Amino acid sequence: MSCIMALFFLLGSVVLQACLARCDDGLLHDFQVHPPVLTPSSTGKNEYGCVVTQTLMEYDFANSYGSPYIGEYSPPNCDFNRVVINFTLTSKGRQYDRLALMYFNSTEVWRTSTAEPTADGIIYSYTKEMQQYLSLWREPQKLIFDLGNIVDSVYTGILNTTLTATFFTVPETTATTPADTILPISMLVGGQNKSSVALLPTDSLAVSYTLPRNMKRAVISISACGQSDEEMWYQNVFSNAVDTFESVSGALLGDGPWREIQVWIDGMLAGVSWPFPVVFTGGIVPGLWKPLAGIDAFDLREHEIDITPFVPYLSDGKSHEFRITAVGVNNEGSHSTILNTTTTSWYVTGKVFIYLDEDNHITTGSMPSVSAPDPVLETTQHIWTNGSGYNETLLETTTARRSLFISSTIKTATGKEEEVSWSQEISYTNYNQLSNYGWYQTTIQNTIGLDKTGASIGYSNAYEYPINCNWTYAENGTAEALWSNTTRGLEFTITGPSVFPDGLQPYQLVSSPAGSGKIALSVLGNVVSGSTLKTTQSGTAYYFNTDPSTTAPLYNFGSSNQTMEFQAVWEDRGEVYSRIVHSINDTITVDEQTFQLGKVER
Ligand SMILES: *[C@@H]1O[C@H](CO)[C@@H](O)[C@H](O)[C@H]1NC(C)=O
Ligand SMILES: *[C@@H]1O[C@H](CO)[C@@H](O)[C@H](O)[C@H]1NC(C)=O
Ligand SMILES: *[C@@H]1O[C@H](CO)[C@@H](O)[C@H](O)[C@H]1NC(C)=O
Ligand SMILES: *[C@@H]1O[C@H](CO)[C@@H](O)[C@H](O)[C@H]1NC(C)=O
Ligand SMILES: *[C@@H]1O[C@H](CO)[C@@H](O)[C@H](O)[C@H]1NC(C)=O
Ligand SMILES: *[C@@H]1O[C@H](CO)[C@@H](O)[C@H](O)[C@H]1NC(C)=O
Ligand SMILES: *[C@@H]1O[C@H](CO)[C@@H](O)[C@H](O)[C@H]1NC(C)=O
Ligand SMILES: *[C@@H]1O[C@H](CO)[C@@H](O)[C@H](O)[C@H]1NC(C)=O
Ligand SMILES: *[C@@H]1O[C@H](CO)[C@@H](O)[C@H](O)[C@H]1NC(C)=O
Ligand SMILES: *[C@@H]1O[C@H](CO)[C@@H](O)[C@H](O)[C@H]1NC(C)=O
Ligand SMILES: *[C@@H]1O[C@H](CO)[C@@H](O)[C@H](O)[C@H]1NC(C)=O
Ligand SMILES: *[C@@H]1O[C@H](CO)[C@@H](O)[C@H](O)[C@H]1NC(C)=O
Repeated sequence: MSCIMALFFLLGSVVLQACLARCDDGLLHDFQVHPPVLTPSSTGKNEYGCVVTQTLMEYDFANSYGSPYIGEYSPPNCDFNRVVINFTLTSKGRQYDRLALMYFNSTEVWRTSTAEPTADGIIYSYTKEMQQYLSLWREPQKLIFDLGNIVDSVYTGILNTTLTATFFTVPETTATTPADTILPISMLVGGQNKSSVALLPTDSLAVSYTLPRNMKRAVISISACGQSDEEMWYQNVFSNAVDTFESVSGALLGDGPWREIQVWIDGMLAGVSWPFPVVFTGGIVPGLWKPLAGIDAFDLREHEIDITPFVPYLSDGKSHEFRITAVGVNNEGSHSTILNTTTTSWYVTGKVFIYLDEDNHITTGSMPSVSAPDPVLETTQHIWTNGSGYNETLLETTTARRSLFISSTIKTATGKEEEVSWSQEISYTNYNQLSNYGWYQTTIQNTIGLDKTGASIGYSNAYEYPINCNWTYAENGTAEALWSNTTRGLEFTITGPSVFPDGLQPYQLVSSPAGSGKIALSVLGNVVSGSTLKTTQSGTAYYFNTDPSTTAPLYNFGSSNQTMEFQAVWEDRGEVYSRIVHSINDTITVDEQTFQLGKVER
């Protein structure tokens, strides 16, 4: 098969949706823009091994709060080294966006949120790579799918779902090596058929494990998002200002606009995550995300913290505590401090991914040296009043910086004693202005970070995620009106061995000759070191409802644009995928995709 044919062969299997927004079925087709996922071709047969698809769940979520779907999974009777899941949801009526967590027993393996349905009905599918959990997929599992929904006379949308898993084999690649063991940092209540997510700060999230003594690498992933009063935490104000507009537009939400999720090992800080502001499909103004969902809304990204510097310490055969906390910020001017709690609720779980060394080896080395001074936090706050003493405008700014460096020496089965380290350099700015007595809000925020291991592991992640949002709100007891202009973006450059797939696998497969039994670690003839994902969204939307008891608001529309570029990084870098989408009032007016050498236009 020639290279170009191979590209089109793959292209056939990665087309993201069969039709645009409105199709013959009369349903609105929602989607989230994402880079291609490697799946066996739907037309051809997988040339590398068997292809098996299993249905894991077919279930209609109606009044499902606190009652997750419980299922059984057994591995297919054939070898596989790749798994992708496909989640399809259809719904009709009125409903909020809902958060869903998929677990194997007490271990969260996927977090998604749902698109808001319409009166005529919606449908969408999302495909996700799962090879990071290969050790779990190779054993029977209890599937717990927690999608809490409530159906009543106004919120009528039942969420009808299908979840399948497809198993296949590709030639072994050195790109992403799945962990040998994965341990949950969660409430550990899967055995009682419950959802193991911790709701911080009400729950305390800490587990203790005695780990294998022959580890050579370990990574903790954090899955965290704000809900209820913390869903749009980046718009929250300092706690001393929540009553600023109380008598006119109502109370504001507190604890400031900065959040940090912290990972502790036996009371030592092991790493942090400054969350990406995921916006669910009902967030800010719903028309911004219909049918084009917000960045990561259908697949909430997990943050990786390499804890290899703790591996010699954790290999002592004793029990150790892993704790995750969520914190906010106090307003104390140029010397502001961490507020050791947040308003309800952060939905958090973590996982320890363990990579084992030779069987009888015992890993030794030095105690971790942890340099993790408190972040530097600076805040300002001004209030302007009108002629009769009413607060008219509130302006708050926050900047935060943190440097963290953890190192140790580790002796693995190779006999060589090596230095390992984990460093994080993160900075953050937030500007929040509430004017017109609190009815208008401007939020401008950015987070920029660089996470790195030492050279012996060679992982790094450089990230940036800005959001700029203007928002008005008006309500008089019965009628409610919303408007927003929002732009936001996300950029991740990942090099080295990440736990979660870096997205290059589809390209590595097409770049290698079929049947050669090897995947070249190259894309278009270049040896790659990693990938860059860059995306931006901008949109304007309106919402108007005069009667809260109706099943559809009077107006709920908007327009939005998204661009995405996905690049393989070599000495220089090369774009391997791009997509531009424009959506106006539920209609896709532009959708252009380029996939490596070929360009698809719609
Ligand atoms: C996912 O499943 C849906 C429903 O069966 C199907 O229409 C869609 O093509 C599947 N997507 C992929 C990538 O296989
Ligand atoms: C979802 O399932 C319910 C039954 O549980 C059914 O009445 C409804 O028509 C289904 N909705 C869609 C959009 O298929
Ligand atoms: C499920 O998880 C609980 C708590 O982590 C554990 O006690 C139980 O043994 C697990 N069940 C299975 C089948 O793995
Ligand atoms: C968990 O759910 C399964 C399937 O519905 C059921 O067989 C089992 O008894 C339940 N276990 C508990 C502890 O409720
Ligand atoms: C003005 O804002 C301050 C600070 O939030 C608050 O304490 C005060 O009650 C507000 N004044 C009025 C009249 O609402
Ligand atoms: C916040 O928690 C950290 C870690 O537990 C602790 O060192 C610090 O003293 C706490 N700060 C306050 C104000 O309680
Ligand atoms: C100040 O604001 C209050 C509340 O909106 C309003 O009732 C009052 O008329 C305003 N006063 C002036 C001088 O604008
Ligand atoms: C609220 O505003 C709507 C739309 O302008 C109007 O129809 C309604 O009468 C108002 N209600 C009250 C209580 O002022
Ligand atoms: C909102 O965004 C649209 C489209 O980018 C732009 O035309 C308009 O001027 C913006 N409005 C405001 C008030 O920023
Ligand atoms: C929000 O408004 C400000 C001031 O008018 C403008 O500079 C900014 O571009 C707007 N943001 C968006 C996302 O439209
Ligand atoms: C989307 O892009 C088009 C063309 O560049 C532009 O006219 C429109 O204002 C954009 N819409 C938004 C909401 O940014
Ligand atoms: C979108 O829908 C609204 C409400 O029906 C309408 O006022 C607006 O003109 C529409 N915009 C476009 C570009 O068709």
